[in-house]
Amino acid sequence: MSFDEMDVDTIWMNGEFVDWEDAQVHVLTHGLHYGSGVFEGVRCYETEEGPAIFRWEEHLERLYNSCKPYDLDIEYEPEELTEATLELIDRQDLASCYIRPIVYYGYDSLGVSPGDCPTDVTIAAWPWGAYLGEEALENGVEVMVSSWRKHASSQIPTNAKTTGLYVNSMLAGEEARRNGYVEAIVLNKEGNVAEGPGENLFLVRDGEIHTPGLSESILDGITRDTVITLAEEMGYTVHDDATISRGELNTADELFFTGSAAEVTPIRQVDNVEIGDGGRGPVTEEIQSRFFDLVNRRTDDHDDWFTYV
Ligand SMILES: Cc1ncc(COP(=O)(O)O)c(C=O)c1O
Repeated sequence: MSFDEMDVDTIWMNGEFVDWEDAQVHVLTHGLHYGSGVFEGVRCYETEEGPAIFRWEEHLERLYNSCKPYDLDIEYEPEELTEATLELIDRQDLASCYIRPIVYYGYDSLGVSPGDCPTDVTIAAWPWGAYLGEEALENGVEVMVSSWRKHASSQIPTNAKTTGLYVNSMLAGEEARRNGYVEAIVLNKEGNVAEGPGENLFLVRDGEIHTPGLSESILDGITRDTVITLAEEMGYTVHDDATISRGELNTADELFFTGSAAEVTPIRQVDNVEIGDGGRGPVTEEIQSRFFDLVNRRTDDHDDWFTYV
């Protein structure tokens, strides 16, 4: 859905709430030219206690950590960004939403070295439904293994959520969609499975759960961590440091994506090969249902994962 069709009117920019249409940057902004920004994508769920941001503290921690390799220096304390976000949601009366904090080198000069460019900080929030579609949550998505590889973590820090990294995600995702698939799976430089363009990947085999380890050029996903925690609590053995070869995708019993945007989305086909029975598998369904019960606060555990507006 286009922003123009949404009932949103405010953005927090460098310490101030500004009208949506006034949240502009100069065309010579450093981050626009060189991808020198870092960001987060966070969901806030509708609950009986009002809107609740899921794992805000962890997202904030990752945002500050993502700044480190690039020397981006956020002049605001985490508490100030939290306050701003809560007020932003409140001001716009959002029952549930997606939150997008972004930190980037702003306008001053355009050498590749950011020099005296300021570190600009912006937070937006808007309503956002299921990332890969409602139907995908139930029936799963068809994906292709992209011909593009992920950057190696020796080329760019893949554990930082850097704006510039996402041209790789865009190439992979658009290649998949041009070929009639919903999403891509991206291999790492070694040719093993890394993740989706905006999702981590899980594989189920013989009742055990596997997900590529952090050294496989993946983002250290917060939903990944959530699913590992929940699955272990549910009694599953989780191998969270796996190396998964391309061929193992085809022979998996089940595959699913995780992400703040994608939540828990089953994968029903890879390169036109059916995974398991070609629909949402039983382990995926169990984990997905546990996940949605949790984030919608139909259960009262892990309350420390929620920041209520
Ligand atoms: C490349 C990539 N991998 C994985 C994820 C999942 O991370 P998280 O669960 O923290 O949203 C995302 C989404 O942010 C992503 O962009």
